[in-house]
Amino acid sequence: MSTEVPRPRFHFTPRRNWMNDPNGLVHHEGLWHLYYQHNPEGSDWGNMSWGHATSPDLEHWTEHPVALPHRTGEQIFSGSVVASRAGGDVLTAYYTSAYDDGRQAQSRATSHDGGFTWETDPSNPVLDRGTTAFRDPKVIRYDDGRDPCWVMLTVEADNRQVLLYTSEDLLSWEHLSTFGPLGTTGVVWECPDLVRLPLDGDADNPRWVLLLSTNPVVDNPDPTGSSMYYVVGHFDGTAFHPDSPELRRLDHGRDYYAAVTFDDAPGGEAVTIGWMSNWRYAHAFPSTPWRGAMSLPRVLALRTMQGRPTLVQSPPTFIRKLLEHASPATVAVGDVPALLTLSGHSLIEIHWDPSTTGSLDLRLRGEADSFVDLSHHPRTGTLHVTRGGPAAQAVHRDFPSTSTLPLPADRPARLLLSLDGPLLEVFVNAGEATASNLVVLGATGVTASIKTARPGTVHVTAVDIEMPTGLDALVPAAVLD
Ligand code: FRU
Repeated sequence: MSTEVPRPRFHFTPRRNWMNDPNGLVHHEGLWHLYYQHNPEGSDWGNMSWGHATSPDLEHWTEHPVALPHRTGEQIFSGSVVASRAGGDVLTAYYTSAYDDGRQAQSRATSHDGGFTWETDPSNPVLDRGTTAFRDPKVIRYDDGRDPCWVMLTVEADNRQVLLYTSEDLLSWEHLSTFGPLGTTGVVWECPDLVRLPLDGDADNPRWVLLLSTNPVVDNPDPTGSSMYYVVGHFDGTAFHPDSPELRRLDHGRDYYAAVTFDDAPGGEAVTIGWMSNWRYAHAFPSTPWRGAMSLPRVLALRTMQGRPTLVQSPPTFIRKLLEHASPATVAVGDVPALLTLSGHSLIEIHWDPSTTGSLDLRLRGEADSFVDLSHHPRTGTLHVTRGGPAAQAVHRDFPSTSTLPLPADRPARLLLSLDGPLLEVFVNAGEATASNLVVLGATGVTASIKTARPGTVHVTAVDIEMPTGLDALVPAAVLD
């Protein structure tokens, strides 16, 4: 059986070589810019540089030449880009200079051609504490209606701390406050972001949401590996005050990391992209000649659920449009499974009423010797997403996994599965919970089978996504040399 990993069609992957975190997400002059941690010279982590891609619509991506290459003695780690709010088209990037002597400090670059070429600042690094895990600058705009300014979030990763700085000119920075440490020990904190969101759509009642990525330190045996969390609170321009010190899981799968928001998105929307892998086994994922994929973009909102503000992550508009153009089918289900034959680059949306059907199982299989099972347990109000089988085991011993996410049974349920080759993203009830996982189902299509404990009906909408035309996705690797 083939274990070939097909290249995604509606997610960004570099044409070749290694990619991890999204960097420098910014919307500028009608284009969404995605920079990313990239090894331009190999399919493993190293020579870290900023790769670059753009999209007019968050669906179709074009890869561009490397934007910020590594140089002698210095790698270019994660960071962010902001668009000038004072007119003109200057873009400013902040990234971490990771020096060969182990020091990490923040550096600056500017672009005067809309993000395609960059000049690094001769006085780099511009923010240096003389420490070795000071990284991932995310610059945000803070505007309280009186004194708008820039705020930079960075981590002291080993201390599990977020450090906040402020600047009026994007040149000199003053320390504001430090958040943390808190939560689980034995992890580093990476890639922070701070996002202002209206609670329940009320612009007069905003909250601030801190996004954090945590990764076990080397000898931590937790097989969960890299994970993302969020904390809801208030930001007064100086310090972040959490409503509760609990870190809440942002995505319940194994493969969603380093997600941050785009600067200056239209309408002030909070749009994120994350890296779909896990440091535990990223190096072992058998895709070639590319290694590393970005998630679907997500639109963030904050909704009161069970009495507390909860992050809701909706799929992007293009996914909704693709589903709206397809015709839904009403399928009779029970203990004889309903079968759907799909290309494996597909969207599957199902609605059903768990109070009628009882538990529901959805199994995905392709030609590879592995499976993905989604099972809903109405009694506990949970959905399990399990990937397993010999081909999953062969990726890495920690690759087989079960993700558990909330799916209440006291109302009709809705599940959206976005499967794009090796990328499976599950959205419960339009984004109330998500689980993102890499899967290894093979390259020649998948069958989805759905059954329920009691006879009933399930409303199914399924769409196969065509191979994009006219994009570099189509160019065989050999032609690119
Ligand atoms: C997160 C991370 C960042 C760092 C980058 C290096 O995945 O470890 O903290 O800047 O990757 O590639």
